[in-house]
Amino acid sequence: MPKEKFYITTAIDYPNARPHIGHAYEKIVADMIARWHKQAGRDVFFLTGTDEHGQKIEKTAKDAGKPPKQFVDELSEEFKRMCSLLGVEYSGFIRTTDKKHVKTALDLFQKAEQKGVIYRGEYRGLYCVGCEAFYTDKDLVDGQCPTHKRPVEEVKEESYFFKLGAFQERLITHIEQHPHFILPEAKRHEILNRLKEPLRDLSVSRTSFKWGIPLPNDKKHVMYVWFDALTNYLSGVSYPSAKFRKYWPADCHLIGKDIAWFHCVIWPAILMAGDLPLPRTVYCHGHLTIAGQKMSKSLGNVVDPIKVVESYGSDPLRFVLLRDVPAGSDGDFSESALIDRNNAELADALGNLVQRSLTLVNKNFQGNIPVCGKLTEVDNELIAHIPDWKALDDLMQNYRWSQVVDQIWQYINRCNKYVNDTEPWKQANDAERLGTILYLLIENLRIITIFVAPIIPKSAEKMAQQIGLPMGKLRDAKFTKKTKGRVNAPEVLFPKFAQKTAVASESVIMPGPLDAFGKLNLKVARIIGVELHPNADKLYVLRLDLGKEQRQIVAGMREHYKIDELEGKLIVLVSNLKPALLRGVESQGMMLAGEKDGTVRVLEPRNAEPGDSVTIEGIVPNQGQITIEDFQKVVMTTKNQVAVCDGKPLKTHAGPVGVELGDGAKIR
Ligand code: MSP
Repeated sequence: MPKEKFYITTAIDYPNARPHIGHAYEKIVADMIARWHKQAGRDVFFLTGTDEHGQKIEKTAKDAGKPPKQFVDELSEEFKRMCSLLGVEYSGFIRTTDKKHVKTALDLFQKAEQKGVIYRGEYRGLYCVGCEAFYTDKDLVDGQCPTHKRPVEEVKEESYFFKLGAFQERLITHIEQHPHFILPEAKRHEILNRLKEPLRDLSVSRTSFKWGIPLPNDKKHVMYVWFDALTNYLSGVSYPSAKFRKYWPADCHLIGKDIAWFHCVIWPAILMAGDLPLPRTVYCHGHLTIAGQKMSKSLGNVVDPIKVVESYGSDPLRFVLLRDVPAGSDGDFSESALIDRNNAELADALGNLVQRSLTLVNKNFQGNIPVCGKLTEVDNELIAHIPDWKALDDLMQNYRWSQVVDQIWQYINRCNKYVNDTEPWKQANDAERLGTILYLLIENLRIITIFVAPIIPKSAEKMAQQIGLPMGKLRDAKFTKKTKGRVNAPEVLFPKFAQKTAVASESVIMPGPLDAFGKLNLKVARIIGVELHPNADKLYVLRLDLGKEQRQIVAGMREHYKIDELEGKLIVLVSNLKPALLRGVESQGMMLAGEKDGTVRVLEPRNAEPGDSVTIEGIVPNQGQITIEDFQKVVMTTKNQVAVCDGKPLKTHAGPVGVELGDGAKIR
């Protein structure tokens, strides 16, 4: 019999910043589900990836002074690295800039055109760059984007449209006839309710930006991000190859609640237009909050999953997210909850059970797994508590992973109770009874290892190695009297962590662009002397007046400024950079300049005085010294001829710091 297949996908993430813990959460849930189905003996394909086109990426790349492809290449790697550190074992990683993806998106677009459900018209809408989405007046809150709470732009442009309305009846019928198509149930109701209103046609192309897939027959248009992004689920399994035919339709699209509409309405309509079968389930998970608040850069509470793993390892993070966030609901992440769960349920409950059992087998039976003797009532009771793997599998097939985790830990606790009830350390005189108790413990540990492997895979592997038995499949997770072998010495599986103080517990917060800026101490300086560097063609040696002191710096400006253009000029100096010898001459700081398309212009703190501070509102200049590596982490650019960092202007008390360059210059 060929193996049953199971195809699961996550949303593909926007690589416009480094991954945060919300991204990690979705990948961890998907990985647990995928690993479970693998252990159930199914042929699993698990797809994840990055969604790389669109105006927002184009703009963020420009602000970072990088070509968009280079920008997404670098960040996409961070998402892969996150998966690898979390033990997320995907089978495919799709990037929407991959050739095979572009081909697939175009193919689907053409199919829809051939069906007559795409036409050219004029788009008028209220657009939020942050969401990459259009809103109607009634979606806005106080006239602003409901998510980003900032003004939207009124946009009018030629656009191609997809006749979403043509699929409305079929969609409603499909959702009504397939109770598992949208999960959880509450989301299904919400979508069905929204479908009572007539569907507006969907704008599927743009002329206002370039970073996207050009339309086959009208190259001034690029495909609007969602049409492009959603087709990743087909290209990710090499549409239209044999592999695609094997895995499609997807069994599960696991996505966050914010993008349910795109997956439950727009995506199925696109598939209908392409005459392709619909996915079996779109599962909409909840969102993580941090201490009850939504994560956001401006609140400075974005948690970096990579830092969490560096501090605690991947399994404690996987565990707390799978254990504490109820399937389908929002949940909170905190470092202290992670520490509590780790200490109580991983270290004390599971780690201790392994440790105690292996120590006793080593001590009393020289490591040999003893023979199972006559079973008593207490033994049979424990055996009766072993969860039925088929029942757990049934729960998993219905995406009730929280219940599965809960039942497994109840079972682990039951095993600990058995140790306390049977007190094996008091049975030294009765070798058969002691052997039977220890046999039961090892046999239950063998079963536990199978059950916990999808949740805490790295620890499960170590457990299997310590117990000295190969990792089984789910069907092996039942009691037998025939297990034989030798256990190894126990090693600590889950180190305990001390609870931290409130301040220290910010250690997993991701630094924002302004944190790097906060390391700088920028000062206004006047150039009072310019000389040629004795040993380098491109360098000047400049004397600077900083009001209370004078300094000397070396600057690579000879190709860009004549001596008399620099003399007397006000500039911005990185005043706390560690002094360095540049071709034999000491440089006591660095002057800031922007570069765009080969043109270099210095930053101009107009109307300021030598010695004045240059900073961003709300940031106090750093008094300590920094290295060149610290400086290189700061990303500054230009906007409307002003120097900015993270969109905020650099200022002196006399006003913003100017740069005579177009937007998107790189400031160094
Ligand atoms: N690129 C689109 C998805 C296209 S799928 C064809 C996108 N990207 S995203 O990077 O903004 O979000 C990726 C996934 O992460 C989404 O499913 C989203 O719901 C999820 N999360 C974003 N923030 C989250 C939390 N705070 N908590 C949990 N999941 C979160 O949307």
